[in-house]
Order: sequence, then C-alpha cells, then structure tokens
Amino acid sequence: MNSMVHIFFETKNLIVRQYTMNDVAGLYEVMSNPLVHQYTKDKNKPWDKYKTEQYIQFFIKKNFITLDCFHGAIIEKTSNKIIGLTGLNPYKVDEPEIEWKLDVSYWNKGYATEIGREIIKQAFKTTNITGIYGMADPENIASRRVLQKIGMKYMGIDEFRNQKDVFYYIGRV
Ligand SMILES: CC(C)(COP(=O)(O)OP(=O)(O)OC[C@H]1O[C@@H](n2cnc3c(N)ncnc32)[C@H](O)[C@@H]1OP(=O)(O)O)[C@@H](O)C(=O)NCCC(=O)NCCS
Repeated sequence: MNSMVHIFFETKNLIVRQYTMNDVAGLYEVMSNPLVHQYTKDKNKPWDKYKTEQYIQFFIKKNFITLDCFHGAIIEKTSNKIIGLTGLNPYKVDEPEIEWKLDVSYWNKGYATEIGREIIKQAFKTTNITGIYGMADPENIASRRVLQKIGMKYMGIDEFRNQKDVFYYIGRV
C-alpha cells in the first residue's frame, strides 16, 4: 500500500483508509453483487467496473482527511482485502449521515458495528460535528440493528433520497 494513503482510523479487525486506483477490482467485486444494494438507493442496481472507477476517482480527488465528511475503503487486516466502503455523507449542517456497504461474505461478523462505534468515537473527538444520522430502509433489519447497537436512537420515519426511511440519530455527549 502506498505510504501516502491517509488512514482515517483503525479498529481491532479493520482499517479504513483513502482509496487508491488499485482498489477498483476489489471494490467492484463487492459492489457488483445485487444483494449489497437490496435496500439502498441503488436498489438492485449492481455497479459495473466503470461506475466503480468513477466513484473511486471522485473520492481520490476530494482528498477528504477529516472525519466530519469522508469516504474510505474498509480493509480486513487478516486478509488485507478491501471488503467494503464506509463514510459520513453531508446531510444537515454539522450533522452528517453514516454509511456502510460490506461484501456479502463478510456480513454478520460484527464489522459494521466495529466501524460505526469507532466513527462515533473519533468523529466527535476530532471534529466539530454535533450529531450523526443513520437512515435505513425499514426492511433493512441488519442495518437497523447496527444503528441500534452503536447507540443511535430511533427518530421515526421520514423521506430520504426519494424513499421512506427509518431515521436514527446520536448527538455529541
Ligand atoms: C447493513 C450492513 C452494513 C451490516 O453489516 P454487518 O457487518 O453484517 O453488521 P454486524 O455484524 O455488525 O451486525 C449485524 C446485526 O444484524 C443482525 N441481523 C442480520 N440479519 C438479520 C436478520 N435477517 N434478522 C434479524 N437480525 C439480523 C445480526 O444478527 C447482527 O445483530 P446481533 O449482533 O444483535 O446479532 C451489511 O449487512 C451490508 O453491507 N448490507 C448491504 C448494504 C446496506 O444495506 N448498508 C446499509 C445502508 S447504507
């Protein structure tokens, strides 16, 4: 790995770092599976190589460093593989929205929970954000469970990206 690549944070099992163009094949493997998009705005629209390349290029250009707004690759330490993506997307002023997408074969290992907890801890410690939102399709049980496990409170149903989503929120303590 290029030593200039910024590492956003590290957990017991995972590293979240900036993308490099070498991630295209690995992220394509994750995002070309329709199951990953079952409950998201890309509903049943698996990514192709071109979209994956554009996406990675976009975030390399953005060069996010701080955790108030960022996007990065999730690397599993033991396999050194890219197993998904995560980030905080702009939503309200100083209140971003959390996102994760993991390769299907890495689900239910506690990885999203591990990342979510670290984002909450580090983002509140190192930036001025005042809260973090989490939205999910009401039927996305795994996502809802993770949002709950990382300490977010259920806020109700509202419109988000042209669909009715359940909203969760955690404020700075
Ligand atoms: C949502 C997602 C990120 C969760 O990642 P993960 O690493 O598997 O999550 P964790 O292992 O930390 O926790 C999953 C929890 O959901 C539970 N769960 C999963 N599927 C379930 C189901 N069908 N019914 C009930 N509980 C379920 C697991 O048991 C676990 O809870 P527990 O620890 O109380 O047992 C992952 O499923 C994913 O990438 N999905 C596709 C993309 C997506 O929908 N992202 C979220 C919106 S951006």
